[in-house]
Formats: sequence, C-alpha cells, structure tokens
Amino acid sequence: MNRYPDPDSKKLKDSIANRLDTETERLVIGNGSDEIILFLLQVFCKEGDTIIFPDPTFAMYSIISKGLGIKPASISLDNHWDFSADLLLSSANENNSKIIFLSYPNNPTGNCFSDIETQKVIDKFQGIVVIDEAYHDFSQKTFINQIKKHNNLVILRSLSKIGLAGLRVGFGVADPLIINEINKVRLPYNSNIISQTFAEHLLKNFKLVQKQIDSILCERHQLLEELQKIESITPFPSDSNFILFKTERSAENIFTYLIKNEILVRNLNSHPKLNNCLRVTVGTKNENDLFISKLKDFISQ
Ligand SMILES: Cc1ncc(COP(=O)(O)O)c(C=O)c1O
Repeated sequence: MNRYPDPDSKKLKDSIANRLDTETERLVIGNGSDEIILFLLQVFCKEGDTIIFPDPTFAMYSIISKGLGIKPASISLDNHWDFSADLLLSSANENNSKIIFLSYPNNPTGNCFSDIETQKVIDKFQGIVVIDEAYHDFSQKTFINQIKKHNNLVILRSLSKIGLAGLRVGFGVADPLIINEINKVRLPYNSNIISQTFAEHLLKNFKLVQKQIDSILCERHQLLEELQKIESITPFPSDSNFILFKTERSAENIFTYLIKNEILVRNLNSHPKLNNCLRVTVGTKNENDLFISKLKDFISQ
C-alpha cells in the first residue's frame, strides 16, 4: 500500500482482454464507467459543443456534459422505449453533435434498443458512438464485435452492477487511437491498488459472480410475473437488473409508503415521459417477496 498503483492497470487489463478476447491496447480503466463518460466528453467536445441521446436515459450523460459547458440534446423514446435511428441521426447532424450516447440496456427503461436501429447509428454516424453496456451481464447483448470495424465506436462496461459498485471499476473498449487520446486526459492513478487487484481477481474467478447473475435473472423473471398480476401496475420487460413499472396510483405515495417499510425504489415521476413510474432493483427472493407484499398492501388500502 506504500507504493503507487500501476498507472496502466496492466494486470487488470490482461484479465479483461482475456475475458473479452480483445487486446489490452483497446482498453481503458475508469474510476467507474462514469469517469470514462467524463473522459470522452473532455476529449471529443469543447465548451459549447452538443452531444445527443434518446431520452429518458442515464442522467450522467447530461449532468457531466453540463458541468463541462457542453449542451446535452435529446430525442424522445417512443412508447416501446425505442428510438428511430433516422430521427436520432438527423437531430445529431442538425446540431452538429460530437457524441451519441446509447445506454444498452437503457437505464431507466430496462430494455435494449432495437438492434437494427442501433446498428444503423453505428454504421452511419460520423462522430463518436458510445454504446454504454453497464448492464451487459443481464442482457448478454453487445456490439463489442464491431469495435474493429468502426474506429469511432466506444463500448462501456462496469463492474458496479455485478455487486462491486463500491470498488469503482469501469472500462472502455475502443480503437487504440481513441484510447491514446483518453490517456492524455486520464490522471495516472485514477484506479487504485485495491480496485485493480480485487477486480482482476474477480474476473479470473467469475464463476461466483455468474452464479449471482443467474440468480438475479431468475428472480427478475419471477418479479416481472408478480408485477404483471397486479391490476393497477404495468411493468416493462427488462434486460437489466431492475424493472420499470407504471402505476395507476400516485408514484409519490407508493414511494413514501415503501420507504416507511424500509424499501427503497427509484421514483422517476418527475420525468415528463415517466409519469407515475417507479424502478425497482431485482433483489433476493426474500427482498422481492417483501416488496411485492408491501406494494399489494398499499394498493389494497
Ligand atoms: C447506463 C449506466 N452507465 C453507467 C453507469 C455508471 O456506472 P459506474 O458505477 O461504473 O460509474 C450507470 C450507473 O448507474 C448506468 O446506469
């Protein structure tokens, strides 16, 4: 601990490269994938530039942009929480967007966007396309195999969603030229020794984590079925480790009732497209059962 960490996270990169069947020159490690979003904005945008994403989506694209004086633009997702590539591309071209961010699966709606529309964006956009696969372990869908074909494509991954949020380890996969540019703004010791060592160990012993992922996938299925049985609730199918649902009752009141019962869900009601929507993270069987029973208690009141 008296030594500085490896500024290149070499061992961790080796284990990631091995798992993903890619080269270490195509990898950058971040203090969470949030940090790589920041790096991309620092490298590819200057103050006053615009970036774009379909909305609703992960709030940090907008929050980090604004902090850097970059303008976040958006197009609205449709009723199936999907987007039209033509619309996204024409908006991006109109405002000269430097980066398109696609959360795949999308937080907070939970779904992966249509493969065809996503592929069209990758094929046609001239700027940087970021496919944020933070929830990849729950969808198993990826565009990582396109990295060699598209030198403007960046794939983001995170260890946060598989139980290691406190470690702050995320990584990006991209063309070595992009990685080199990111390394110019990245501080040398952005990833500490504990995070590097623990993450490397975890990736080499993934069986335990996979067991946990499999259990979440199984519980997600059960939770969705239980939510579907409740009349005044409309849950949306999920490729993630959470489920978005809309209620006919007040989301605020449900949120408060659940909090009083020590259950924390995400209240998304303030977003214009997510009126009376809440997002619940898939927990253990006991946690999910308790959540469903408290939700039913509230609704039957
Ligand atoms: C879509 C998406 N991308 C990135 C992140 C950031 O993850 P990390 O903990 O790796 O910074 C999150 C976290 O919620 C997320 O939902």
